[in-house]
Amino acid sequence: MATQVALLPQFEGTRATLKCQDNLAFMRELPSESMKLIVTSPPYNIGKTYERRSTLETYLTAQSQVISECVRLLHPRGSICWQVGNHIAEHGEVVPLDIVLYHTFKDHGLRLRNRIIWHFEHGLHASKRFSGRYETILWFTKGDDYTFSLDPVRIPSKYPGKRHFKGPRIGQLSGNPLGKNPSDVWVIPNVKNNHIEKTIHPCQFPVELIERLVLSMTNEGDSVFDPYAGVGSSVIAALMHERHGYGCDIVQEYIDIAWERVRALRNGTLRTRPMGKPVYDPNLPNGGH
Ligand SMILES: C[S@@+](CC[C@H](N)C(=O)[O-])C[C@H]1O[C@@H](n2cnc3c(N)ncnc32)[C@H](O)[C@@H]1O
Repeated sequence: MATQVALLPQFEGTRATLKCQDNLAFMRELPSESMKLIVTSPPYNIGKTYERRSTLETYLTAQSQVISECVRLLHPRGSICWQVGNHIAEHGEVVPLDIVLYHTFKDHGLRLRNRIIWHFEHGLHASKRFSGRYETILWFTKGDDYTFSLDPVRIPSKYPGKRHFKGPRIGQLSGNPLGKNPSDVWVIPNVKNNHIEKTIHPCQFPVELIERLVLSMTNEGDSVFDPYAGVGSSVIAALMHERHGYGCDIVQEYIDIAWERVRALRNGTLRTRPMGKPVYDPNLPNGGH
């Protein structure tokens, strides 16, 4: 069984389960339909320190096995969010992983709800093509009756005081006073060296990216699982909002850091970039913060 840490009062009722283990083995121990949200960023098969580069065919077969087990774990009202970028094949050819993985999810009868564009400013500078500054999140649900709440993730409207100027609702506010739908294009800084969440992991999630998914696709007390957990960013996002967090990774050092982050969260010392904080803009006073 996976290790558990002691709970401090403010996190009473939430459970963190993190283990250094291959995800297929980890998932086999979990009950069917137990996860409301499965969110992850798998290796992109581009030769990062934690992966062995294989043919695209081998990579897709391995992904298909993991996705199949994730579908077993998914709650009937649950969501799977698969965050991917590009695989770079021979001759520098770009293979968009969401396009090649889409059919694997469809083969399991899942339904695509959004293909979210995650845009960020920092990354490698390409010289023989345009530099990549976005990745995608494929959001699938198991059924048509799925958990989804917009209110906790609304963002400020551009014109909050705007009112209807004609028709039966003349004079009334035209937008939702709680803010607007954040749309399917998300501008959130990626975790590079100057980001307050940076650890030794070469490509960790910004916690605020996962918070938005957790808050909109789960309720308090639900379980969130990341099968490629890295340094535990998804588990952190889940615990921050009174959900249970599950994760596994094959690198012990990452799991150790994930536990350190969970402990820091629980004793109030973990620093995360707040959701909704504007992206730094050098043209504005104090960067717009
Ligand atoms: C893109 S990173 C995910 C980082 C994570 N989102 C975070 O915020 O730290 C992919 C992770 O998958 C892990 N991994 C690779 N193969 C795995 C497997 N078979 N089972 C579990 N984890 C695996 C790698 O060690 C790596 O940390």
